[in-house]
Amino acid sequence: MKEILLELEQAPLAYSKIIFSAPGEKSPSLPGKISLEKRQKKDGTAFYFAEIFRENKAFHQSLEADALLPFVQKVMESARFRQVNLFSLEGEVAFRISKKGKVSRTVNRKAAPVLCRQGHNREKNYLIREGDRIPFMVDLGVFTKDFRIVAQKQDKFRQINRFIEILDHAFRDWEQEEIRVLDFGCGKSYLTFFVYYYFAILKEKRVRIIGYDLKEDVVGHCNELAKKYGYHGLSFVVADVTRDVLTHEAIDFVISLHACDVATDYALNYALERNVPYIFSVPCCQHEINGTIKKGDGELDLFLEHGLIKERMSALLTDAIRAQVLESEGYRVDVLEFVDFAHSPKNIMLRAKKTTNKKKKSLAPLMDMEARYGFRQTLLHLRNKEDA
Ligand SMILES: C[S@@+](CC[C@H](N)C(=O)[O-])C[C@H]1O[C@@H](n2cnc3c(N)ncnc32)[C@H](O)[C@@H]1O
Repeated sequence: MKEILLELEQAPLAYSKIIFSAPGEKSPSLPGKISLEKRQKKDGTAFYFAEIFRENKAFHQSLEADALLPFVQKVMESARFRQVNLFSLEGEVAFRISKKGKVSRTVNRKAAPVLCRQGHNREKNYLIREGDRIPFMVDLGVFTKDFRIVAQKQDKFRQINRFIEILDHAFRDWEQEEIRVLDFGCGKSYLTFFVYYYFAILKEKRVRIIGYDLKEDVVGHCNELAKKYGYHGLSFVVADVTRDVLTHEAIDFVISLHACDVATDYALNYALERNVPYIFSVPCCQHEINGTIKKGDGELDLFLEHGLIKERMSALLTDAIRAQVLESEGYRVDVLEFVDFAHSPKNIMLRAKKTTNKKKKSLAPLMDMEARYGFRQTLLHLRNKEDA
């Protein structure tokens, strides 16, 4: 029995379904089978819904997450179940307990995952999960003291996990011992801490990350937290990325998550100027074109009739131009849906990888378009100057 408790203790909230069956002792007062299903409350916290089968009837009970282990212990002591199956997104762990009490454990990684129920809010196979004991997540206000996701931080948690999932995909087989990263407009630095944790703690790399932001108090707090956790490679600097001189260290990749308006352009420009090999950028508040574009007697005029359509088209045009500029300078660019639109309308990621030093595309057609419709796009200007 202690093996089962140990398994559960290691990742208390990882299991979306737990089934106890084959009772060792049959008695009308004891359950014949128990099924526990992890569900989410409206505030996003997890609980277990128990179905207890006794004499062909099902009895229901709700368990708070921290009541899970005592419940399992009690169930195993009383009914002496011989079969326990734990399902998570990673597959199934099955325990069989012989009459003599010998425990065998088998793992089936291919077992169909049972997902946590609640509308569209299905739990993804996150690299960092609710229940993981990561203290900085509590300090940053993403987790409660008992490591549950704070209700208002559900979307941020999802975004950050998705970001890490994309980085994991890119760097899973990365052999370099050291990795150097810049985060533009890091704000409260949920992402920055997560990225550090992913590479330094989970991947055991030497990591150097600098987060830049305008806000002195936020930067000060982040530096204190990095010090508190002994994250020596993580530092934060007050800087206006549109005009201050930034580090000259060689950088492996640049990240930006919702760096406001043209701050994203300066992040991309920094990477282009220094041939940074990888860029992961989720833009936001793309106001620049929307504030300057005018009818130009061409196809785009159709999109400029109505404010809402103009705003959306301008945001898409901004990112389309950014992608073209990156491609023009030898990057392969993927435009990804970052998170589901329902969780954030700012849901486009530009993922770029430097593949050649040759210039591939001319910026002239984009400059012509800009002149015709009278708008301004910062990255295009910055790179066109470089070309001139
Ligand atoms: C919407 S917040 C995003 C913060 C963080 N990346 C996240 O996703 O949680 C945008 C941040 O960009 C910072 N920012 C905006 N313009 C900037 C600039 N020119 N230089 C440095 N930081 C800037 C703001 O201070 C703010 O903290």
